This record gives sequence, C-alpha cells and structure tokens, in this order.
Amino acid sequence: MNTQTRGFFITIEGPEGAGKSTLAQAIEKHLQKSGKKCLRTREPGGTPLAEQLRDVLKRHKGEERLHTATELLLMEAARVQHVEEVIRPALDSGVCVICDRFYDSTSAYQGGARGVEAGVIEYLNNYAVSGCHPDLTILLDLPVESGFARTAKREQTCGKFDRFEQENIEFHCNVRAAFLKLAEINSSRIKVVDALRTREEIAHDVEILIDECLFKVQ
Ligand code: TMP
Repeated sequence: MNTQTRGFFITIEGPEGAGKSTLAQAIEKHLQKSGKKCLRTREPGGTPLAEQLRDVLKRHKGEERLHTATELLLMEAARVQHVEEVIRPALDSGVCVICDRFYDSTSAYQGGARGVEAGVIEYLNNYAVSGCHPDLTILLDLPVESGFARTAKREQTCGKFDRFEQENIEFHCNVRAAFLKLAEINSSRIKVVDALRTREEIAHDVEILIDECLFKVQ
C-alpha cells in the first residue's frame, strides 16, 4: 500500500512584473526549512515539449495569425504535458510543487482579456488537469501601471516584449480584474497579496499563509 503523503501544491499568479519568480524562490526556501522536498516549475512550460509550446505562445510572429482558440488550446496542451509528466508524479511522491502560473492565468488571460466564455475555459482547465488542483494560490496583485513600469525596465536589459507584454493597458486591466474576481469567487484557495511592498514583506505574509494552509491539509 502507498502510504506516501501527497506533496503540497502551490501556484503563484499575477501580472508580468509582479515578482512571481522571486517569491517562488522564497517559498521554496521556507518549505525546505521544514524538511520538505520542493520542485519549482512554470507555465506555460515545465517539460521539453511544453517549453516549445511556450516559445510559440510568447514569440510567434509573422503573417499567420495565432487565433485566440489556438492560443487557448496550446496553453491547455502544454498544461496536460506538464501535469502528467512533472506535477502529478512529483506530488504523488510527496514533493511540494511551486508553480509560476497555472490554470487561473488561462481564466484571466484567455477568459478575462481575450474574451473566451468562462464555461469553455472552466471545462478545458478541468479537462487538462484531470483532478490535479492547487492547494493554495498566491495572487500577487499590483496596479497595471506599476507592472508596466517593471516590465519596461526588464525589457531594457533582457530584450523584446513578448506577445502578451505587447498588449495594451486595457488588456492588462482586464487581466487584473479577472484575477481579482477569481480570488473573490475562490477565496479559500486564492489569497491576494499586495505586490507593491518589499520582497521581504511579501515573503513574510506568504509564509504565514502557507503555514496556515499546511496545518489544515496535514
Ligand atoms: P511569464 O512566464 O513571463 O509570466 O509569461 C507567460 C505569459 O503567458 C504571460 O504573459 C501570461 C500568459 N499565460 C496565458 O495567457 N495563459 C496561461 O494559461 C498561462 C499559464 C500564461
């Protein structure tokens, strides 16, 4: 009989420039301190094939338009690969998974901002993850203008904006509004954290949320 306790599954959501990767590192350190094995990963991506899809999703250019439905289905295809090849096996072997973006991003970007019907997104999200849901989601929230300023700075050092970063302010306002609505609807899973503070303050609040959630789960 398998007596292995399932690992804890944390996802981090929010706009570009919110500090998700920095927070993922802090969460990993925190969990490791209490003896937990961790895996940090990201979406779209996390497997060789899903990383190829990520490249198409972020960098596609040229005359052939990447349609909204194609974008949505590629996101979900990458998610199936990621869940089945990486996330589920890790959780089943007791490893905690910290994932930079997951299905709430699909609800916010392809749903809230691109306008795909919520029922379609919900169906495809559930189909792609097949029962593999996060225990806790941290939503790093910040005003759209602040996110823009941070990504603009990064663009100067790391190169061109991707397909999503190039979208206008209205698109990003819709993404933010959709994330906040999701947090309202799923308030026991999604915790909103003010991302305008220092990384230490943010990490401190998130560590408390994780400990509370771990206490409930165990
Ligand atoms: P990032 O890794 O730099 O955050 O880039 C990933 C981009 O992909 C980001 O702009 C959000 C977008 N995205 C979606 O539109 N839908 C999704 O389901 C996911 C996971 C990401």
